[in-house]
Parts: sequence; structure tokens; C-alpha cells
Amino acid sequence: MTTFASPELPGIRRSDFPPDFRWGCSTSSYQIEGAIHEGGRGESIWDRFCRTPRHIRDGSSGAVACDHYHRWPQDLDLARDLGVNAYRFSIAWPRVFPQGRGERPNEAGLAFYDRLVDGMLERGLEPWATLYHWDLPQALQEAHGGWASRDTVAAFLEYTDAVTRRLGDRIKHWITHNEPWCTAFLGHHEGNHAPGIMNYRTALQVCHHLLLSHGLAVPQIRANVAGAQVGITLSLHPIFPASDSLADQAAAMRHDGSRNRWFLDPLYGRHYPADVVARLGDLAPIVQRGDFEAMAAPTDFLGVNYYFPEVVADAPGHGPLATQVVEQPGVERTAFGWPVSPQGMVDLLTRIQRDWAPARVYLTENGSTYDDVVLPDGRIEDTQRRSYLERHLAAARQARDAGVPLEGYFAWSLLDNFEWAEGYVRRFGLTHVDYTTQRRTLKASGRWYAGFLAG
Ligand code: FCB
Repeated sequence: MTTFASPELPGIRRSDFPPDFRWGCSTSSYQIEGAIHEGGRGESIWDRFCRTPRHIRDGSSGAVACDHYHRWPQDLDLARDLGVNAYRFSIAWPRVFPQGRGERPNEAGLAFYDRLVDGMLERGLEPWATLYHWDLPQALQEAHGGWASRDTVAAFLEYTDAVTRRLGDRIKHWITHNEPWCTAFLGHHEGNHAPGIMNYRTALQVCHHLLLSHGLAVPQIRANVAGAQVGITLSLHPIFPASDSLADQAAAMRHDGSRNRWFLDPLYGRHYPADVVARLGDLAPIVQRGDFEAMAAPTDFLGVNYYFPEVVADAPGHGPLATQVVEQPGVERTAFGWPVSPQGMVDLLTRIQRDWAPARVYLTENGSTYDDVVLPDGRIEDTQRRSYLERHLAAARQARDAGVPLEGYFAWSLLDNFEWAEGYVRRFGLTHVDYTTQRRTLKASGRWYAGFLAG
């Protein structure tokens, strides 16, 4: 059991971290770019998903989003002015191969990222590129069911090859996938993310293909990019049983098996966890000879997106794993309802180190959503987000003190943006975006981060 309590943390300073620590912020293509019909971009599964009534809470889409496609110089200026030294972004596959694959990549799509990356370098921002942050070309969904098919693994490798050949002279840090759990389970089991499928078996097969495509991409990226640093970003959670009962403890173990170990075990050479496989029975994914070896390709780092811990109870009849996440009364939460627990971040990172020992770890996302109030003079005093950030940076330092090779922290997010099924209702930005005027305003949290980075 945990109380989620954060220890009393001392004031945190940049000088508490080594000089070469990566300080960044993160974004993703579909959430900020807009301009979905420009530069020859093809349709993505999110364009299609957003057109289906009731999928997105406010009926919106990423069609315009932050209009970053046109306003990127200003956005990179914002990142530079924050004082970050690294910038994590993602490449939209439908800009590079509008139909998912093809003989030649779309020149206008690659040229956009060429300019963007040059813009980062000009501003002293080290580019960290994510190849897949959920915007699959719709054509691949239609041709053979998207990630449910092994054909998409082959298509991903073609796309990866084109992108890394073109940008690998300037981008050295590559992340294959962002949060495969979300792609697989939100997109194909819960159905509240694109492509909106609700089938547990499909979700598991999708998951297998994502991890396989990651593993096969690793040597390919290394072959195309001199000095490449390659990793994957997972959404991971510390998990606690709802009570001391044996049933709840076993449930927490099963949940951990599907949330965390299902990804980390095969990535670190241990195949899928046997206890979960046994529980899944014939729902388990089809694995071909050589898949596990491919998935375990050694990486340079593990990207961790940390948002919240989960408390789990035994729940007979509740899904294939008979588990349920239960709400803890009296716990601090963000506007999303996500529990706030900097201590959970320390617990998670130290556990990852103990059980899988990645060579290096980067927090590739961490952040919070609150109902920001714009004051009459235009300022946004988001004290809760500021406090969240400060406490999680202190937790990052604690994890380092405990021996975790944590080498960087990327705040989610540079800008308020299209928050998937939540549309524009949820704001995670250090910078406020007025979606009617596209005006950007640094929030108090962003000002605090800039002050912290300035030392
Ligand atoms: C993560 C996603 C990111 C953003 C944050 C709030 O799961 O990777 O795109 O939506 O959550």
C-alpha cells in the first residue's frame, strides 16, 4: 500500500544535476502540427478517428491544432527561450509516405522536417525524434488492418529507413515508438484512441508487432546514422495492491505484468512474462521464430513517460486479467483525475533499475493538466503545474541519488495541444495557446522552468 505522499523535498536547482544532463520539452506531430492537407500529407488514423461522431470529447480534431506546421519558428524560439538544450518531437509518417509506403518518400514532407531540424540546431536545441507517436497512415489501416498485421512492421521499416537516411546526419537521438501500451490497448482494446477497435486479442497482436518493429528498426537506424543513440519510450507506472490481501497482491502482480513487464521483459531479452502468458491462454499473440531475439536488440537508452501510479484490486470477471484500478480517496489529482505522486516516480525508476538495468534512462515525458485561468492582464498563474514540475524534478534528483542512470528530463509539453480523445479540453502546456488567435503565452510554470534552467 502507498499513501502517494511526497517526501519533504528540498529546493531543487539545476546545479543538482550534471552539466550534460538533457533538459527538454516534448511535443508530437498530430497534437501540434495541423495543416493536415498541406505538403502532400496523407490521411492518418487520427484524422479519420476524429471525424467519427463522439470519439473526441469536444468534437474537435488535430486539423489545425497549434498550427505548428506554419508557426514552428516561433515555437522553437519559445523552446530556446525556456533555456532547454533538447527538444523531443515526432515525425508524421503520413507526411513522409502519404499512403503508408511507396517507391519514393514524399519530398515536401521530408523537406518540412529538414527545415524543422535545422531550426532546432540553429537555436541550440538537440533534436530527439520519435518515429511513431500514433499517427499511422490511414491507408495502412485500410489495406491490412494497420498494426494488427505484420505488413505494417515492414512498412515501418521502410519509413524508418527513409527518415533516418534523410535526417540522420543531424538527428542522433532516435526513439522508435511512443508508448506502445497506448497504441495497442487504448487503440485496439478500449477503443478510445484511433483506430477505435475493441478487441483484446487484436491489441496483444498489435503490441507484438510494435515491439517487433522497434527491435528490427534498431540495427537499421544504427546502419543509417553515424553515432546514433536509439531507444524506445514506454508509459510505465508503479503499481500497488489495493489491500494486503493475497488476492489484491496477486492482482497487482498481474496488472504490473500487463502494464510494465509485458514491455520491459521482451525488450531486455526475457520473452513475455510467463505468468501473464499463462493467464491469457489462447489470447496470447502469435510469435514467430526469431521475434524475441529481434525485440531484444540492445538499445542505448530507455525513455520513460511517467504520469501516475496505479492501485489495483482483484476483480473477478473484470477483463482477461480480472483486475481493476481503484481510486484512492483523498489523493492529490490533476484535472484529468491522475494521482500526483513524485514519490511514485522515484519508486518506478529505482524498480526499473533493479529489474532491467537499462544503460541510461531519460524521462521523455512528465507533466500535468489543470484548468488554467487566464487573468485579465493575460497572465496564466498555473501554480499547481509549477508545483508539480518542481516536485517531479526533485524526484528526478532523488532517483539519481539512488543510483538510477537518469540523464535527462523532457517536460510534457512545450505547448497546450490536441490531447487525443480529450480534444482541447485538457491543457498540458508550459505555454498557453489561444486556439482562436494562435497566440502563445508562457505560463507561470514555464517561467519557473526557465528560471530553474537559467540557474
Ligand atoms: C502521453 C502521450 C502524450 C500526451 C500525454 C499527456 O500518454 O504520449 O502524447 O498525450 O500523455
